[in-house]
Amino acid sequence: MVKKKTCVFISGKGSNLKNLIVHSRNKSFPIKISLVISNNKNAYGINYAKKYKIPFIFINTKIKNYENKILLYFKKYNISFICLAGYMKIISSNLIKRYKRKIINIHPSLLPKFKGLNTFSRMLEKNEKKGGCTVHYVNEKLDSGSTIIQKSFTISSKDDEKSLMKKTQKLEHKAYPEAIIKVFRKS
Ligand code: GRF
Repeated sequence: MVKKKTCVFISGKGSNLKNLIVHSRNKSFPIKISLVISNNKNAYGINYAKKYKIPFIFINTKIKNYENKILLYFKKYNISFICLAGYMKIISSNLIKRYKRKIINIHPSLLPKFKGLNTFSRMLEKNEKKGGCTVHYVNEKLDSGSTIIQKSFTISSKDDEKSLMKKTQKLEHKAYPEAIIKVFRKS
């Protein structure tokens, strides 16, 4: 099996990156993580790229035309698939057009509910009964591309933001690899 050379974009902790790296080391997993891009120099997730000897780059998104730089790196590493994992920047329509249905993201809610930031505090405010995560294709509208996989859990009255995050991330670590397998089973 020829694995798709994949770039993972991060901004922070990188627990999904680590999880994907571990899965991608399995022979039958459809992707190989060939590049990690962070827009944050201090993202903890960069340590996982270092640990597993995966090339990583920091991209300063304040610089004009920074996406051209990204495209050059995609070319250098032959990237054909992109996973956003806690990347806190909007991907431009230029990149989305070039990589149509080749960019996916994970979001900590049951989309279309709670798009955007601060999902857990908003969920608690609204007395939501269910939490969860969604892996979806990235299109030009924030958190709006079609869903690949969703996983949910029941919110208890004892839950706070911290416990919701913990429960959500546990599901995310199952959902993201499953979604990638599903994407490549279809194509
Ligand atoms: C995840 O909860 C994901 O849903 C959201 O950002 C968080 C990233 O977590 N988009 P990590 O950096 O992978 O630990």
